[in-house]
Amino acid sequence: MAIISNCTASLIKDAALALKEGHLVAFPTETVYGLGADATNEKAVARIYEVKGRPKDHPLIVHISSMELLDKWASEIPEYAIKLAIAFWPGPMTLLLKRTDLAKDFITGGQDTVGVRVPAHTVAMALLKEFEAQGGLGVAAPSANRFGKVSPTVADAVFGELSDYLSTYDLILDGGMCQVGIESTIINCTKSTPEILRPGAISASMIINETGLSVLRIGKFNNNSEIKTPGLLKSHYAPKAKVIISGTPSHGDGFIGLAEIPTPMGVIRLSAPKDSKEYAQVLYESLRAADSLGLKRVFIEPPDNQGIGEAIRDRLEKAANNRKDQ
Ligand code: TXA
Ligand code: MG
Repeated sequence: MAIISNCTASLIKDAALALKEGHLVAFPTETVYGLGADATNEKAVARIYEVKGRPKDHPLIVHISSMELLDKWASEIPEYAIKLAIAFWPGPMTLLLKRTDLAKDFITGGQDTVGVRVPAHTVAMALLKEFEAQGGLGVAAPSANRFGKVSPTVADAVFGELSDYLSTYDLILDGGMCQVGIESTIINCTKSTPEILRPGAISASMIINETGLSVLRIGKFNNNSEIKTPGLLKSHYAPKAKVIISGTPSHGDGFIGLAEIPTPMGVIRLSAPKDSKEYAQVLYESLRAADSLGLKRVFIEPPDNQGIGEAIRDRLEKAANNRKDQ
């Protein structure tokens, strides 16, 4: 497998062709790196599950270059979903909608909904456009990490996670560090009101302010929804190190917190973001750094619960849940 760092038009063309031929292409989006396959090719999609080590009933998000392809994948699209798409696509938002016949069980995990997203990243957009120009209809892409692990936000992290599992014909497109750094907001659009299942950079208040829509925000995200979201497990996004939220670190422990918080004595500072936006962007790389330094414990002081802070806390709680026993 090759890493392509200078994504010229002709290399993007080759990458789109690789997808058409059933190979996997990892690519940058504004949220995290995705591991892409032709969403209509069952064999190619099966390889995503193998490479990630992911259970088969976990559905995949279909990535398209514009709203125009939405009704290929989704039916019974409510008016509010169109409003959301107009307001936030391309961008870090996934809409769950009733599926069409094109969205097979191997994409939806057997559910009657499909997740669709138009990503805002020049490389992702170029790849999707080229893929569609070659007759493709959508690229299925989960985050490009092994199941349950931290999502990659740089190409090297994709390589570290997946190089043992990818084949010679698969590709990794390097588009630098992802701007947002945590996964898209997932919104269930099968009810009369939009419902946030996974918080992300598009927050409930942004939705309310930009569209005037009211939004259901499940207190503890995704617990009360009728939608089965197997990937939204209690434990996820976890490094090897034990994650402890708002504790008191000891000598040799890792620490992540806003720059305004001084580094406790003897503690290894993994990042010092200036605000919650930067916090989200560097979080996953900071967790990876903890593992590459071989740290046993990482103490994390989350930002406040406003805007993307809510999504950061959601991810941290899941990362912390992995090692509650230790
Ligand atoms: O930002 C993102 O969303 C990234 C980039 C690559 O686009 N993708 C991503 O995909 O995070 P993944 O597969 O790692 O997480 C998607 C989540 C999973 O928890 C999955 O269960 C849920 O979305 N999901 C996808 N389609 C669904 C569906 N039809 N019904 C319910 N849950 C769904
Ligand atoms: Mg994931």
